[in-house]
Amino acid sequence: MNPLFSTTRIGRYTLRNRFIMAPMTRSRADDTTGAPSPLAVDYYGQRAGAGLIITEGTYPAPMGKGYVRTPGIHSEAQIAAWKHVTDAVHAKGGLIFLQLMHTGRISHPSLLPNGATPVAPSAIRPAGKVFTATGPQEFVQPRALETDEIAEIVQAYRLATRNALAAGFDGVELHAASGYLPEQFLSSGTNQRTDLYGGSLANRARFILEVIGAMSQEAGSDRVGIKIAPEMGFNDVIDEKPQDTYRYLVEQLAALKLAYLHVVKTSSEFDYRTFLRPLFNGPYLAGGGLTSETAQMLIEQGNADATVFGSLYLANPDLPQRFLGRAPLNTPDRDTFYSPGAKGYIDYPALEKAQ
Ligand SMILES: Cc1cc2nc3c(=O)[nH]c(=O)nc-3n(C[C@H](O)[C@H](O)[C@H](O)COP(=O)(O)O)c2cc1C
Repeated sequence: MNPLFSTTRIGRYTLRNRFIMAPMTRSRADDTTGAPSPLAVDYYGQRAGAGLIITEGTYPAPMGKGYVRTPGIHSEAQIAAWKHVTDAVHAKGGLIFLQLMHTGRISHPSLLPNGATPVAPSAIRPAGKVFTATGPQEFVQPRALETDEIAEIVQAYRLATRNALAAGFDGVELHAASGYLPEQFLSSGTNQRTDLYGGSLANRARFILEVIGAMSQEAGSDRVGIKIAPEMGFNDVIDEKPQDTYRYLVEQLAALKLAYLHVVKTSSEFDYRTFLRPLFNGPYLAGGGLTSETAQMLIEQGNADATVFGSLYLANPDLPQRFLGRAPLNTPDRDTFYSPGAKGYIDYPALEKAQ
């Protein structure tokens, strides 16, 4: 039997299969309130057959917003809107974790309260452009956080976790990849601090471990996961010794009895998924460019407990059934990944409708 269709344990839950829907920003939220769109109820509900859904990146506090029309989880209106999403997924027997994403310096004053300057571990401007309401613009130089502000951000993740549970989520995932705030702290190229949060490897990892600690105190560590993507290079983040950095981080995480570690393969020639697997004794989620065959192989060879699909799940609401029946797949339409509205969001047909 194909092991993708067998159950597996993640934290306190039994997943009905080993298909995980990857966290994916879709930019359909209300840009003023930060509440997810009513369309998100259909979008996630259609994909509830996954063993676990991880939502799009969601900001824990207004200063964590990095893209237009992305949702938050710091207000009552946001909690109420997310509740409709979790209800729809639970009504179909699914499980759903909320991904907490603070983008740090990968933002723009036009996205932040009162035109604030984005914050980061150090005042180092990222190369590249940010997508704002008026089109792409150069990144600005971020403001380095004061030491006492860091505790406030950790607290924001704590409250966001509390809010996520109030909204009915089954757990939370810390987004520690893609060059956002947690990875900005972790990486030597973006962190030049001289306080407790910079310098040594232990200091650079401190922010992530404190956030994970706060999230775990709220939800229980068995409802907290973390996503990493070593050497992704996205958003201009570089680390001098990434293998040492991620070995240390994962060794620290391993002691915490988390729901899972989610590792995404990047274009790096070094195979981090296989390198890190023996260092983490809990449930291990692997993603990044997977197909039906490579996912099955990862599980059969013991290199993952569950497999994460991004663009394929975006385009195929019934991805497990399609793999099971070796049916053709819908092609993801990049033009509608981040465009507002229903097109390319909730209109990808399921198999029976396509035939
Ligand atoms: C449209 C889109 C939006 C994404 N947004 C996020 C996000 O909000 N948070 C995150 O951790 N990863 C995000 N990703 C990355 C995916 O979670 C995943 O790691 C990546 O797509 C690789 O998996 P795949 O090859 O199966 O698509 C996004 C990917 C896509 C295609």
